[in-house]
Amino acid sequence: MRKILALLTLPLLFAFSSYLKNNSYEQPELLREPYLQMVRENSATITWKTNDVTENCYVEIQKETSNKIISKQGKLTQHENNTFNEVVFDKLEPNTKYYYSIFSNGYKLATGKNYFFITNPKKGKTAFTFYALGDIGAKLPHSFADKPAKCIEKLNHKPSFGLGLGDIVYPKGESRNYDKQLFLPFENIFKNTPFYPVPGNHDWYTDPEKNFEKEWSLPNNEHYYSFSYSNALFIGLDSSKGEFYNYKEQVAWLQKTLNENKDTFDWTIVYLHHNGKTCSYKPNYEAVISIYKILAENEVDLLLNGHAHTYERLKPYNKEGDIDTNRTNHSEYKNLDENFISITVGAGGKLNNKWEPNPSDKKNCENGDIVAHYEHEPSFSLISIDGKTLKFEGINSINGKTFDSFTIKK
Ligand SMILES: [Fe+2]
Repeated sequence: MRKILALLTLPLLFAFSSYLKNNSYEQPELLREPYLQMVRENSATITWKTNDVTENCYVEIQKETSNKIISKQGKLTQHENNTFNEVVFDKLEPNTKYYYSIFSNGYKLATGKNYFFITNPKKGKTAFTFYALGDIGAKLPHSFADKPAKCIEKLNHKPSFGLGLGDIVYPKGESRNYDKQLFLPFENIFKNTPFYPVPGNHDWYTDPEKNFEKEWSLPNNEHYYSFSYSNALFIGLDSSKGEFYNYKEQVAWLQKTLNENKDTFDWTIVYLHHNGKTCSYKPNYEAVISIYKILAENEVDLLLNGHAHTYERLKPYNKEGDIDTNRTNHSEYKNLDENFISITVGAGGKLNNKWEPNPSDKKNCENGDIVAHYEHEPSFSLISIDGKTLKFEGINSINGKTFDSFTIKK
């Protein structure tokens, strides 16, 4: 009998407590849709922004295949008169889809079929795709950041995550420009696809600690960090204004991270903002060239960067930083060995309209023969890894067409 009574009164109690909850606090305004960060095998971080009436927050999650709801309280952080709401889930199941709903002050602010995350698969052979682009949140109305975002939304095969190759928000990486220049165009992607950005020179024109680091929750010190997905290791570096943030410490950390993971993953991808050698309108950056040897000796496969607002794929480099002249087929590589491929994907949200690409023009570079493909169009990259095959595509953000592609097989 007691059990039945309890069962009957429970829904009433629940309704009453949510009535109290909803009415003792003001309803916060959702200023930024939720975005995913650091999604791992067993954990995920969900963040959203509200106005400063917010006093508490939580997220409810539900596995796609279950009715059980798990609720978790989050933390609030004040920043520039707004409130970041952040909830970190742990003890999740790998490779599992969870739907989520976000609550601030007890009010449900977002829910529905597009609010979900998929935890990482365990280290192994799961095939996956990710996207990469740099130089994204240009000043309005000149930014075309909505174009790659629309293309990525429409992809048949949903990417598991995205890499941000620096210069995330212009002109100076200011927090106040993040919403309209980055989060708004990318909101339908960021709510169900985690994003891993590194800072570029523009993000360094204001203090990253008070801007970039407030906007993101990233691993390690948030400047340089690593994470893995299936059979691939990803290393993000902070090239600051071209000379690297804490150069000595960062390069030592890079070397240590590569050593620790030697022979652990099939693929290693390093990404940062500045280019090393280039035939674009940017100079060669010696600090980046100085890590070529480390990359080659540790069998890094790809080095992705932004900075020049264009697309430029270079031929494979050896550890001396010279192109491997033995290779003549640049659409299919069989085993890169101690060679890596450096690619600029820097036309995410802006293009340099005053410049004409031409690798044979000595004004652009010493040796135009280093370039495998260039394309001066708004663009992003899509990279698919399936076991020991990697497929790279350069995609035009306006028409969604692939203009450059190559594969590496190991
Ligand atoms: Fe830049």
